[in-house]
Amino acid sequence: MKAAHITQTGLAENIVYGDLPTPKPSPTQCLVKVGAVSLNPVDTYIRSGMVPMPLPFPFVVGCDLAGTVVEAGSDVKRFKTGDRVWGTNQGLLGRQGTFAEYCAVDECWLYPTPASISDEQAAAISLVGITAHLGLVRDAKLQRGETIFVNGGSGGVGSAVVQMAGVIGARVVTTAGSDKKLELCRRLRADHVINYKTQSIETELKKIAPAGVNVWWETLREPNFDLAVASLAARGRMILMAGREARPPFPVGPFYVKGCSLHGFVMFMATPEEQRHSAENINQWLAEEKLKANIDRVMPLSEAAAAHRLQEESTIGKAGTLSGKIVLKP
Ligand SMILES: NC(=O)c1ccc[n+]([C@@H]2O[C@H](COP(=O)([O-])OP(=O)(O)OC[C@H]3O[C@@H](n4cnc5c(N)ncnc54)[C@H](OP(=O)(O)O)[C@@H]3O)[C@@H](O)[C@H]2O)c1
Repeated sequence: MKAAHITQTGLAENIVYGDLPTPKPSPTQCLVKVGAVSLNPVDTYIRSGMVPMPLPFPFVVGCDLAGTVVEAGSDVKRFKTGDRVWGTNQGLLGRQGTFAEYCAVDECWLYPTPASISDEQAAAISLVGITAHLGLVRDAKLQRGETIFVNGGSGGVGSAVVQMAGVIGARVVTTAGSDKKLELCRRLRADHVINYKTQSIETELKKIAPAGVNVWWETLREPNFDLAVASLAARGRMILMAGREARPPFPVGPFYVKGCSLHGFVMFMATPEEQRHSAENINQWLAEEKLKANIDRVMPLSEAAAAHRLQEESTIGKAGTLSGKIVLKP
């Protein structure tokens, strides 16, 4: 089969699109013929070695996938040959990745794809959708009628958070860096949008939510805690999920006096049961057309190295070239 793989960590140029043996599924795995995969910033951290992971070389890059089961292991209970599935959480913690024509994936990380949803859509929502759901439902426990601020609403994670918070019934305030991206956030049903390049978040939030926001979802790798804590309402919750190297100052007094709480997580450490619970809600919302993946572009899988460069430049290099997900097709 063709696969985008590396034999050592390093630059995006290390990714080779070439032949590898088609994997054999273990008793608990399904062999999935891949229809689409999508790219996440974490893929670039793993490929570069910035986030050290045990990697089975030659290592197929990528976490997300959607496709069709072509063989089910003898102990697989939830799927059979011909079923359409999506999943994420591959290419991590010693598992092989997804950027290939075929992947052997443990059934605990796979979910049925709703009939009306394309593989491109399912792959593109997978990691970011589960991340958004875990943070909003399991951790922040966002309630109908509350106000949430999402810093970075047009990005991969942010666009899922904005939509899901709206489905939950919260009032959504979000930021983006251009008129075009602000318009995208409005289409995702954000109630209020702030241009973080031309407007003051602090001033705008004071007008929109004078008593503070109930939840602050931070997608930036360098959070501004002074601004976030000052903008939280009493008993406000803050979600942190990016910025391993970040060591910003933290306003202890204002934080505890208001009874606020901080929730940090990485989606890939959530249990299979937690992730499946998120996936069930995501499937329902996808099928009801309440949730849609925010796809910036679709590329051939053979261009995986170029896609990695683009993601790196946009997210880590802060070029903002992308507005959502890169999907790749074998
Ligand atoms: N913990 C986890 O489980 C988990 C899961 C997924 C992702 N992550 C991490 O979360 C981060 C975001 O991932 P992603 O896939 O959403 O990346 P992304 O698609 O590149 O989105 C980045 C977002 O940041 C916004 N942004 C950049 N500079 C900003 C600023 N100064 N103020 C406000 N917004 C700004 C961008 O807005 P504009 O484009 O409008 O400039 C964009 O919406 C990454 O670091 C990723 O590694 C963590």
